Amino acid sequence: MSFLTLDNVSHYYFTTTGYTKALDEINLSIKEGEFVSIIGPSGCGKSTILSIIARLMKQTEGEIKLRNESIINSSLNIGYMLQQDYLFPWKTVMNNILLGPKISENITDETKRLARKLLEDVNLSHTENVYPSELSGGMRQRIALVRTLITDPEILLFDEPFSALDYVTKLKLENLVAKLMKTYNKTAILVTHDLGEAISMSDRIFLMEGSPGRIAKTFNVPEELRNEAPFFVRRHPKYQPIFDEIWEQLSDDMSDETERKV
Ligand SMILES: Nc1ncnc2c1ncn2[C@@H]1O[C@H](COP(=O)(O)OP(=O)(O)OP(=O)(O)O)[C@@H](O)[C@H]1O
Ligand SMILES: [Mg+2]
Repeated sequence: MSFLTLDNVSHYYFTTTGYTKALDEINLSIKEGEFVSIIGPSGCGKSTILSIIARLMKQTEGEIKLRNESIINSSLNIGYMLQQDYLFPWKTVMNNILLGPKISENITDETKRLARKLLEDVNLSHTENVYPSELSGGMRQRIALVRTLITDPEILLFDEPFSALDYVTKLKLENLVAKLMKTYNKTAILVTHDLGEAISMSDRIFLMEGSPGRIAKTFNVPEELRNEAPFFVRRHPKYQPIFDEIWEQLSDDMSDETERKV
């Protein structure tokens, strides 16, 4: 059964001078425990899709369903991670992590134990009592991930969470996130500009085109790649063929810019 479904979702942004049609009849369906990515040119509506799923705003047309029920009235718990970590500088790492449980008045010994277990999972047990300013960008993103996971979201939305990090940190975090999503059997949607990242982390990839945003094509990542850690996917013999296939589609509109010789 489908877990999350977008049914003919269209969205318009209205301004004082007019409107922009950001999404045009988006249809997609995600299975429980699946990891999917959305790629496509800047402005094609990727973040708009995540904001609508997160219920930060309502789509103009169409419907979003969780297990065949409209999500409007559901108590769906969603984790949302962005490029910026939004940790509170005046709170220690542990108090940042416990923010969600604190708001829902649910800090118990069990939540604290889980917080420590998740900190251990991301190799940051030693940072429990330090402040975010004492941590690197990659460490802060790992804390943000723990803060998201502790609320036990049914679905995780990642909007370019690694794009501000250096390449090595980014590769390490991809591995870590992929492993945690599998360990905790989470459903996840990743928006990224990095095709390699999408292939190495996902089961399926939705390629969008812009103005207004539509799903142009869906790619299934080969089975052999899905069970490998992202770092090793990039070295797998099946990696380059799928990369080339998607790249060809992506670069259709910019053929002049992809000449072999400079
Ligand atoms: N708050 C807003 N008001 C008006 N128009 C908006 C608003 N947010 C986004 N848009 C427009 O909607 C379209 C989709 O924007 P969106 O941010 O979803 O794109 P994106 O694919 O996430 O882009 P990027 O890759 O640059 O992050 C764009 O044309 C954008 O200008
Ligand atoms: Mg965006």
